Amino acid sequence: RRLAAAADLADVRRLAWRRAPRVVFDYVDGAAEAERSLARSVAAFARAELRPRVLRDVSEAPTAVEVLGRRISMPVVLAPTGFTRMMHRAGERAVARAAARAGVPYTLSTMGTTTPEDVTAAAPDGWNWFQLYVVRDRERSRESLDRAREAGMEVLVVTVDVPVAGARLRDVRHGMTMPPVLRWRGVLQALGRPAWWFDFLTSEPLRFATVDGAPDDLAGITNLMFDPTVTLRDLEWIRSVWPGPLLVKGVQRVDDAKDLAAVGVDGLVVSNHGGRQLDRAPTPLELLPEVVAAVGDRTEVFLDGGVRSGADIAIAVALGARACFVGRAYLYGLMAGGEAGVDRVLALLRAELVRTLQLLGVGGVAGLDPDCVRLR
Ligand code: FNR
Repeated sequence: RRLAAAADLADVRRLAWRRAPRVVFDYVDGAAEAERSLARSVAAFARAELRPRVLRDVSEAPTAVEVLGRRISMPVVLAPTGFTRMMHRAGERAVARAAARAGVPYTLSTMGTTTPEDVTAAAPDGWNWFQLYVVRDRERSRESLDRAREAGMEVLVVTVDVPVAGARLRDVRHGMTMPPVLRWRGVLQALGRPAWWFDFLTSEPLRFATVDGAPDDLAGITNLMFDPTVTLRDLEWIRSVWPGPLLVKGVQRVDDAKDLAAVGVDGLVVSNHGGRQLDRAPTPLELLPEVVAAVGDRTEVFLDGGVRSGADIAIAVALGARACFVGRAYLYGLMAGGEAGVDRVLALLRAELVRTLQLLGVGGVAGLDPDCVRLR
């Protein structure tokens, strides 16, 4: 199969490009405005230099790490992504199952198209997390938290970099709306992707599955989903009602990281939402060392944005990340080949990570330290 021949994530991405309609591929692949944040995030990893030690016994290179008190098989968390059933009909269930098989956590998004109950039922052995957008009606937020917890989700990730929606210009140019409705141009493009189109038409219609009674018109959804009034007080409130581990995703400054650590969050994700919100935002990899230095003793620090290989993961961990969230990486796999595509991506990331550790001369993830990397 083509998937098995994919030698790296760039190959998987190309395969995704061939399988999915342009509007769908661009929704995943694209970012905000001129896509500078995204390009810089990717470029920062490319610029990083790895500094190998030679003549070490690297016959073993264990990749397991401890995250929020629990062991995971490698420092990877599958990031929350909206509308995952649009990428492939198997959607969130497939991703959750692949994550469980690989021994890494999966995060269901508030914008997910599968219910929390269906996700945990599909992957009962997985470590399933829930991502919250604080919505205008706090009672609704409260209900989605309760629902996620009752479904068995233990870890909450609150995303804080979306006071308003970013301007994804590829979507604008495609005339794509929220939730996505395929237009005539999309239909024409889809003619070149009959398999995807058939799947899309024969599967359950896309809808928000984590918020009860979500409206399905654009204005209603935007109003519901994005609340520009959210402040640190709301986070304190969430801290008081969520008993489990709490992560905040979208931290882009050291002073904000300190404020959040003071609220008692269990972890921070240094992230600019994969470049999908503010363009020209700080580059996560460059910001990471400062955040780790400021709050790393009080809270676990994660990173996301631009992770496309196992070497990228090694670099982020060397610079102090507990683990990397990955978004597009697994979505390329999902578009390229459904659940098997996500499996393939996770296998590639793992193999690349192990090989990087060995070539670096460190005996496993635990041996990574800032001295392994020079940011150029
Ligand atoms: C996202 N991301 C995201 N984040 C979030 O908190 N809630 C969400 O619903 C979504 N939705 C979403 C959809 C798509 C298609 C993408 C690509 C991303 C952001 C995501 O969690 C993560 O921060 C980035 O994807 C990380 O960057 P990379 O790994 O994609 O480069």
